[in-house]
Amino acid sequence: MKKNKVLSIDKKHIWHPFTQMKDYETIDPKVIVKGKGVKLYDIDGNEYYDTISSWWTNLLGHQNKKLNQALKKQIKKLEHVNFSGFTHPYAAGLVEQLSKKLPPSLSRFFFSDNGSTAVEVALKTAFQYFQNQGNREKKTFIRLKNSYHGDTMGAVSVGGVDLYHKLYHPLMFETLQADSPDCSNCPKRKSEFTYEARETGCALECFASMEKLLEEKSSEIIAVIIEPIIQAAGGMIVYPFEYLKKLRKLTLEKNVLLIFDEVATGFGRTGSFFAFEKAGVVPDLLCLSKGITGGYMPLAMTVSTEKIYQAFYDDYFSNKTFYHGHSYTANPLACSLAVETLKILEEENLPESQKDTIEFFHNTLKEFGKEKFIADIRFTGFIGAVDVVEDRKSKKSFLPEKRMGQKIYLKSLENGLVLRPLGDTIYWFLPLVIKKKDIKIILEKSLKVIAEAVRE
Ligand SMILES: Cc1ncc(COP(=O)(O)O)c(C=O)c1O
Repeated sequence: MKKNKVLSIDKKHIWHPFTQMKDYETIDPKVIVKGKGVKLYDIDGNEYYDTISSWWTNLLGHQNKKLNQALKKQIKKLEHVNFSGFTHPYAAGLVEQLSKKLPPSLSRFFFSDNGSTAVEVALKTAFQYFQNQGNREKKTFIRLKNSYHGDTMGAVSVGGVDLYHKLYHPLMFETLQADSPDCSNCPKRKSEFTYEARETGCALECFASMEKLLEEKSSEIIAVIIEPIIQAAGGMIVYPFEYLKKLRKLTLEKNVLLIFDEVATGFGRTGSFFAFEKAGVVPDLLCLSKGITGGYMPLAMTVSTEKIYQAFYDDYFSNKTFYHGHSYTANPLACSLAVETLKILEEENLPESQKDTIEFFHNTLKEFGKEKFIADIRFTGFIGAVDVVEDRKSKKSFLPEKRMGQKIYLKSLENGLVLRPLGDTIYWFLPLVIKKKDIKIILEKSLKVIAEAVRE
């Protein structure tokens, strides 16, 4: 199809996600027709560094030869079958591989097909876990300010970003909100920049509101749901892992389940295989998706402990069955891709083998601190972020009308890279196979783009 035809059909009929379509009318979207490694190519032959790994999914580069091969092999055998009453070696193989990467207590795997459904499953499982034991008191969850767990209504109910969630309040089930461990905006932070939140010099004062809720209301609380190490869509908020240690200890004491949403952080993105490993704590429920298939196909999993599973295990008429499922649950093509993804991570010893590259990324990002329009710098593993402001000293932000983030986004495309800001926070969510030379170019281009946008 020719470019003009794509654009005319698109503009006339397609409604894009997270997009004000009136804005979109005035901007011709890039028509992407190819990907290779860390780059995307449009129909006119222009190339763009995919610095956000195609919405945080891509792990091993576009058009990865081994993943392509795995998909070709699988498509000759079985493309799909219902997963209730049937099973297949591709799901079993995936569970066998993934189990090796998880603590033994996380031993039961429920499949679904995207990050939001992984979260829905976790919320419903946690609720029913207590119901099945006759506990009718537990009926709410703790969510964090700035948290994002997806766009389905359950996930929205435990979300904490006003821009995405506030409007839907009348439809949400009630939850309790704890403060965000937002080092960037914390008056207690002693270091100039947050960096990896290892030297913030604070006493985790931000944990107080969580502590209060758990101390006062634990009899009502089913679970706490949290994105470990980094609140991603809420602004790439990196926080100290001691927060998770405290949270695990208190939730255990108070008989409250702990759900880690590793949809964005799983499979090496934060520099360890799972983000929670950094804190040395284990959740009761774990949500996985995005990178699980290397970014090729939708697949998700909610992993739970044997203890939770056993609360559902009973005679049929006990009515303890988990009545939940999706048409594409454990899709064999996606499972085979996930098996291959895990195999590649193992063979290439990722993310460990990229330690030097990660350090290079962080050190290069630190250089942004020389600019007075950079308010904070944060990073963990392959994820990095900076806040762009008018002036760091006076902490003056740009007026929302200036739409600085949007300006930077459009400029980035002109300069051969995709920066998709969250407000005025510019971030990089790099694939695990990124090379130092690409990081150097990406960050040089990014700084140029940001500086130009600010100057204008
Ligand atoms: C932490 C987290 N959870 C859940 C989701 C939702 O995933 P999906 O977009 O696949 O529904 C996202 C998406 O960005 C996420 O970052």
